[in-house]
Amino acid sequence: MSATKNVAADTDDPPPPGEYGFVVAASRLPVDRVDEPDDGESEWRRSPGGLVTALEPVMRAANGAWVGWPGSAGPAPEPFDAGGMHLVSVGLSEDEVSDFYEGFCNATLWPLYHDVIVPPVFRRPWWDAYVTVNRRFARAVAEQAALGATVWVNDYQLQLVPGMLRAMRSDVRIGFFNHIPFPGYEIFAQLPWRRQIVEGLLGADLLGFQRHGDTANFLRACRRATGKSTRGSLIQVPEPAGRRFVRAGSFPVSIDFSAFAELASREDVRARAGEIREGLGEPDVVLLGVDRLDYTKGILHRLNAYGELLDEGRLTSPETVFILVASPSRERVEQYRLLREEVETTVGRINGQHGELGALGSTPVQYLHQSYPREEMAALYLAADVMLVTSLRDGMNLVAKEFVASRTDERGALVLSEFTGASDELAGAFLVNPHDIEGLKDAIVRAATISPQEARRRMRSMRRRVRENDVAHWAAAFLDALKGAPDPLEGDTL
Ligand code: F6P
Repeated sequence: MSATKNVAADTDDPPPPGEYGFVVAASRLPVDRVDEPDDGESEWRRSPGGLVTALEPVMRAANGAWVGWPGSAGPAPEPFDAGGMHLVSVGLSEDEVSDFYEGFCNATLWPLYHDVIVPPVFRRPWWDAYVTVNRRFARAVAEQAALGATVWVNDYQLQLVPGMLRAMRSDVRIGFFNHIPFPGYEIFAQLPWRRQIVEGLLGADLLGFQRHGDTANFLRACRRATGKSTRGSLIQVPEPAGRRFVRAGSFPVSIDFSAFAELASREDVRARAGEIREGLGEPDVVLLGVDRLDYTKGILHRLNAYGELLDEGRLTSPETVFILVASPSRERVEQYRLLREEVETTVGRINGQHGELGALGSTPVQYLHQSYPREEMAALYLAADVMLVTSLRDGMNLVAKEFVASRTDERGALVLSEFTGASDELAGAFLVNPHDIEGLKDAIVRAATISPQEARRRMRSMRRRVRENDVAHWAAAFLDALKGAPDPLEGDTL
């Protein structure tokens, strides 16, 4: 497909309306297939993600359907009901997993939207796969959506869906939320298909971004890549029958605060936190990092800062231990493989240099390339003295909010990169520029030596903020704004 073809107009005949008044589209389904080792059977379990928690009550109340990829290559299973939700799978072939998911989504868009921390790769067959898969999603949504339904499309994997869906079904109300940053135009402009992406997004009635800067970047992309005029947060889109207005705004995503607070208050979780510290040899200071193993997270910056603090004797081992949880992610993508090698080499170097033979807690970096259930995460958050979030670029960073929500004891300190969306809200954190290694080292030492009074003051203010702006608040704010958008059945009301 050429870079100038208008993909939004290139759609099949519209399917007849479905029966669901509310449809969510996201690249993944809200459930994971879990294989039972005993009987070889598999079952679907609700995934722990925030989006699922936020949308589940809305889905139930509004007779909702969720359209997503089940996470492995192969034909789509038939629609099924799980956890009170109607789930509709979109299947991806092996080639599509490689060209759409690993290629265009995670080797083109992901690095491009995260300020080219690693170089994005532009391949025309990947773009073709992106168009094909987005059209499959749009069609699956159109088949489920009742006349006049509300559709909520999520994230960078599905940016063409709003335009394709509108071309099939002008009756539905479409919201789109981008969970990752939207880059400045000088970076976005590198994308050979920048115009098609912006036009795809403009099929929505409401476009949500994490931060004001992301919204401003998108508005500029509308003007520069498509020549659309914008007024405040409104973009004017010419239509054959007149014009349409699309609204763009920021809606910072959040977490289920009370779920984490309740977990962290549980006796067994608190006991497990104690066990973790005991297992480490009761160090004076436990530092913690929890991320997907992704180059956007600044894991190497954090490790290098810690290594230098040990070299300089400003922190000592075994009095200090750094638990580094880096969960496996996108492992077949080249840059993720390279990062894993570099992280593991660096962990090995620090442990080789500063570890001690035999003694408990003598491994300065406890590196865990694994994922954990929410209970264990809450115990880890409680076991830590200092949480290190050093992303080089991050749409929000929900780990920072989970840490805060889990600290029912009002202890612990957060070192937080200013390049995260969360830094707009968490003023009680020690804000850092992770590229400034000296500044990062100073912040780690300050956080590790904070007085209990100061820790409490900072933690209280952060907890209040996350409690008030939890994930339910986020979903309600977005859906209210979407309701306020001009009615697609009645035309332009602005
Ligand atoms: O927040 C960005 C995001 O890509 C989500 O869309 C996704 O659920 C999460 O990160 C994990 O990524 P993946 O689906 O590639 O495992």
